[in-house]
Amino acid sequence: MPAAYPITDHEYDVVIVGAGGAGLRATLGTTIEGLKTACITKVFPTRSHTVAAQGGIAAALGNMSNDDWRWHMYDTVKGSDWLGDQDAIEYMCRQAIPAVIELEHFGVPFSRTELGQIYQRPFGGHMMEYGDGAPANRACAAADRTGHAIIHTLYQQSLRNNAEFFVEYFALDLIMDDEGICRGVMAWNLEDGTIHRFRAHTVMLATGGYGRAYFSCTSAHTCTGDGNAMVLRAGLPLQDMEFIQFHPTGIYGAGCLITEGARGEGGYVTNSEGERFMERYAPHAKDLASRDVVSRSMTVEIREGRGCGPLKDHILLHLEHLDPKILHERLPGISETAKIFSGVDVTREPIPILPTVHYDMGGIPTNYHGEVLRPTESDPDAIVPGLMAIGEAASVSVHGANRLGCNSLLDIVVFGRAAAHRAAELVRPGMAHAPWVSNSGDESIARLDAVRHAKGGRKTGEIRSAMQRVMQDNCAVFRTAEILEEGVVKLDAVAKTVGDLGLSDRSMIWNSDLFEALELQNLMEQAVVTLHSARNRTESRGAHAREDYPERDDENWLKHTLSWLDDTGKVRLGSRPVHLFTLSNEVQVFPPKARTY
Ligand code: FUM
Repeated sequence: MPAAYPITDHEYDVVIVGAGGAGLRATLGTTIEGLKTACITKVFPTRSHTVAAQGGIAAALGNMSNDDWRWHMYDTVKGSDWLGDQDAIEYMCRQAIPAVIELEHFGVPFSRTELGQIYQRPFGGHMMEYGDGAPANRACAAADRTGHAIIHTLYQQSLRNNAEFFVEYFALDLIMDDEGICRGVMAWNLEDGTIHRFRAHTVMLATGGYGRAYFSCTSAHTCTGDGNAMVLRAGLPLQDMEFIQFHPTGIYGAGCLITEGARGEGGYVTNSEGERFMERYAPHAKDLASRDVVSRSMTVEIREGRGCGPLKDHILLHLEHLDPKILHERLPGISETAKIFSGVDVTREPIPILPTVHYDMGGIPTNYHGEVLRPTESDPDAIVPGLMAIGEAASVSVHGANRLGCNSLLDIVVFGRAAAHRAAELVRPGMAHAPWVSNSGDESIARLDAVRHAKGGRKTGEIRSAMQRVMQDNCAVFRTAEILEEGVVKLDAVAKTVGDLGLSDRSMIWNSDLFEALELQNLMEQAVVTLHSARNRTESRGAHAREDYPERDDENWLKHTLSWLDDTGKVRLGSRPVHLFTLSNEVQVFPPKARTY
């Protein structure tokens, strides 16, 4: 062990990395199950990005329209463009109902109907009658601050159950043994600069997405996908990384989120001619078509010269026709955001908007228990003992090629809960740990040390901007072989410059120069596999829209992409089959068909 870095050792039954909705729900669950659990988080739990989730959490409660979990399942399969695993989707949509009721009982302050039930609004792609009916009121909402309400409640419940938190600990790397079993995780305590080695029977990664690989995104600056990168460095694959969701209604310029709930409450979008153009692209669902469809339609309008403003480069979102009382009650957060970031009073004028990166459908492949997969030729669903992943970090895969709005808060709660149940089946409280392999964690410390003392000529911010530009320009809403190829070449060149990184602060206590450099390494690894995966998939499906291959190609591409990254930065690609089967006989598989709204 390098002498300069004394290690503090810890032993837990379960270690959870990340304290967003998924991490907190799992922490609460394993703690209630009697497992000694540590939750490690680089930000204070209630500052995790879940706090920014706005519109709602999907569940077929049927409080305000007819609904059925099977309709929810159909919409999710269709939204995923048939790349989602149908066993996992069945699990999620069915469990949505008890999971949301449980949240209500935990104390989440949902908005209410006249009858006192949980208020539910329509959301994009959620329909009645297997897509043939009207929009379903399925998004359970706490005004437009649903994530805020959920994360505070889960944190309070975790404290009430005496969960242990390690706050402002930056997780560095997984500790894998020679048999490929995950034994723990290394972390750096930002507050006092010490290094910690956590030993656990189960490590759960709940580290969120990597939106910050892009220039314009709705994600917090902390969304650097640290767990995904830890998985790549452990020699394990990520799945479906080419599928990046653009949210149609990011504020023009700032990129901040204006919830889809705004359209759920009756808002609509127009082009420079004042036309409600979604009626042309999605005659049935119109403004409530799924996100990939609306983002593409907006982009086409702008490209064809019907963008708004002097530069004809954005679209308008109208809420000014809605009753100010509704805006005040149901959409207070975005009314404030629109005022601050675009100077717009939503009761009087439309908001300028543009599609903005919002969510990563891809991530760490798992089954619906949250167990991480290490697919092999003979067993595409083989698991990695000791390792689980949940939330946006994971690709279960319930979102496939495109996620429906409000299925993310649902995913984090349902699979946080499922993973806690699974951990309780696998681990007995206090059971003995295998001995450490003698050099456990050394490689991770060596990596930290190399970055800390890097003396190259480039600053982290400079390399990060170059990476974000390539991703924004070359891996956007529409893609072609030429643009992606150019992106791969450019990004591989930018990735090489990480070797020329130079830091000016060599301290260990709250050294933001150092953790931003480590976050940059993490982002870069994911950006590289994203672009390579996107270049490889020669079809259009969900959020991956290839202009040179405009059709979905089920014969060749109804499969998940797997991507590995070696120490030299070389990408290897593979695939695993989509689960076209269900868990029970209460619903039949939905076979692939054309996807129209
Ligand atoms: O538009 C929104 O409120 C976002 C919801 C989501 O991404 O699920």
